[in-house]
Amino acid sequence: MTNSSTTQGEAESRPNSESVFIFDTTLRDGEQSPGASMSFEEKLEVADLLDAMGVDMIEAGFPVTSEGDFEAVSAIAKRMKQAGVAGLARAAAKDIDRCAEAVRHARRPRIHLFISTSPLHMKYKLQKEPAQVLEMITTSVTRARNLVDDVEWSAEDGTRTEIDFLCRCVDAAIKAGATTINIPDTVGYAVPDEYQALFETVRARVANSDKAVFSVHCHNDLGLAVANTLAGIKGGARQVECTINGLGERAGNAAMEEVVMALRVRGDAMAYHTNIDATMLTRASKLVSAVSSFPVQYNKAIVGRNAFAHESGIHQDGMLKNAQTYEIMTPESVGVSKTSLVMGKHSGRHAFKEKLKELGYELGDNALEDSFTRFKDLADRKKIVYDEDLVALVDDEIVNAHDRIKLVALTVIAGTNGPQSAALTLEIDGERKTHQATGNGPVDAIFNAILALAPHHATLELFQVHAVTHGTDAQAEVSVRLSEDGKSVIARGADPDTLVAAARAYIAALNKLMVKRGRSRPDALAG
Ligand code: KIV
Ligand code: ZN
Repeated sequence: MTNSSTTQGEAESRPNSESVFIFDTTLRDGEQSPGASMSFEEKLEVADLLDAMGVDMIEAGFPVTSEGDFEAVSAIAKRMKQAGVAGLARAAAKDIDRCAEAVRHARRPRIHLFISTSPLHMKYKLQKEPAQVLEMITTSVTRARNLVDDVEWSAEDGTRTEIDFLCRCVDAAIKAGATTINIPDTVGYAVPDEYQALFETVRARVANSDKAVFSVHCHNDLGLAVANTLAGIKGGARQVECTINGLGERAGNAAMEEVVMALRVRGDAMAYHTNIDATMLTRASKLVSAVSSFPVQYNKAIVGRNAFAHESGIHQDGMLKNAQTYEIMTPESVGVSKTSLVMGKHSGRHAFKEKLKELGYELGDNALEDSFTRFKDLADRKKIVYDEDLVALVDDEIVNAHDRIKLVALTVIAGTNGPQSAALTLEIDGERKTHQATGNGPVDAIFNAILALAPHHATLELFQVHAVTHGTDAQAEVSVRLSEDGKSVIARGADPDTLVAAARAYIAALNKLMVKRGRSRPDALAG
C-alpha cells in the first residue's frame, strides 16, 4: 500500500479500471432530510452544478408528491446538458404516469420505481402479501417500460429482505424490463462484507442478472454508508447512489465526495473510476450546504474546513518538507483554493466578477450587482475580505434572490439598560413596512418585529452563531431552524453584524417555510 497514486487524474488512467455510474440523489433523498427543503431556483442551481461536474444521472425529485416537485423535475429534465434525469415513483399507475410526464424532456429520462420487500415493511407498511408485492413489481415495471426505455427498480429495505424472495423480486423486475436494479440499505443496517456478499449472491442466483446494472444506495445510520457503498461495488454494483455532503434521510446517504475520492486516491486497491470532475467537489459542497442550510462538519472528510488543515508543529514541519507526509491528496484536487486576501474597498466590478469566476460563480447581471453592493458594504466595514467571506456573501445572495420577504433596514438598541428594541423595515412582496418592537434581549426584539410584520405560527427550534473567518470583525453566520405544523426548515444569514445576520437568517427561514407550505401570501403563514 503506497500513496504514490494520489495525484489528480492518475486513477482514471489506471489500466483496466472499470467505470462506476454516479446517480446523485441530493435533490430527492437529500432534500427529504428534515429541514433541508430547497426552493425551485435553488434546485436548478444545484442541478446545473451536478450536470457540469459529470454526474451521470440526477434524481431530481418525486413528481407525484407535489406540484413543486413535478415542476422542478420537469425543469431540470429540460435543462441538463449531459446528465440523465430520474424521478422517483411508487408502484402505482398515478405515480408512474406523473413521473414519466416530468422526465420526458430529459436527454436520458429514467423512472425510478421502488417498493418494500422486507417482511417488516410488507406486513406493517404495505399490508400486503409477498405474492401481491411480486405482482406489483411486474405490473409497475411493465407500465414504466411502456413510457420510457430506462427503468430502475429498487427493493426498499433490501438489506433486511429474505434472500430467496429478494432474488424472485429482482428476477421479476428484470423480466418486466428494469434496466437498473438497486438494492438499498434503507435503514443503514448492513455491514460491508454482508453487503458485498448480498450483491454477489443475487447476481449469481438471478438467471438474467447480466441484463441489468446493479446499484448501491446506502444510508449512514451506523456511519457505514461509504464503506458499504465500496463493498457493494466490489460485489458487482456499477451504479452508486449518493448525495453531496451525505445529505439525506436521518443520518444521511453515502457522501459523493467521499466515494469519488476513495476510488480515485485508492485506485490501487479498487480499480474503478467515475466521470466526476473532483475539482468541483468543494464548490458543490458549499452550494448544497448553503441552499439546504445544513452546515458541513469541520472535520468532514474531503470537504470539511479542517480536511486539509495542519495544526500540530510536527505535522506542519512534515508538510513543509514533503506534503505527502500528511496529505494523501492535494487540496487543489478537490477544488480547495488557498485562502487569500481578495480585494479591498477600492476594487471594481470587473475584479469582483473575475474573483467570483475563480471561486466558481457565474452570476446573472442582477445577482452580480446586488452581490457587488454587499461586497462594497462589507469591505467598508471589514479590514480583510477573504475568499470565505465572499462565498458566504454570494451564497446568501443566491439563496435569497427570489425571496418574497426582504430585509431593508434594521436599527437595534442593546445594552445593559433594557428594554432592548429593534426598528425594522421589511419589503414584503414589493411593499415596504416598518415596525418597532422591544424584547428580552436584542435578538428577541428583532424576532418580535419580524413577527409583527410577517405574522406566523412558526416556533424557533435552533439559533446558532459562528464566525465565517477569524478576528473580531469576522462575518457572523447565523443558523435558524423554524418549525410549523410538523414541518421544519433551516436557514442561514451572514453579515459582519451578528444581529443583522440573525435577522437575515430568521427571514430566510420564513421564506423557506412559505416555499414548503406553498402558500400564496406571506401573511398566510399565520393560517
Ligand atoms: O433508502 C431507500 O430505500 C430509498 C429508495 C426510495 C431507493 O431511498
Ligand atoms: Zn434512501
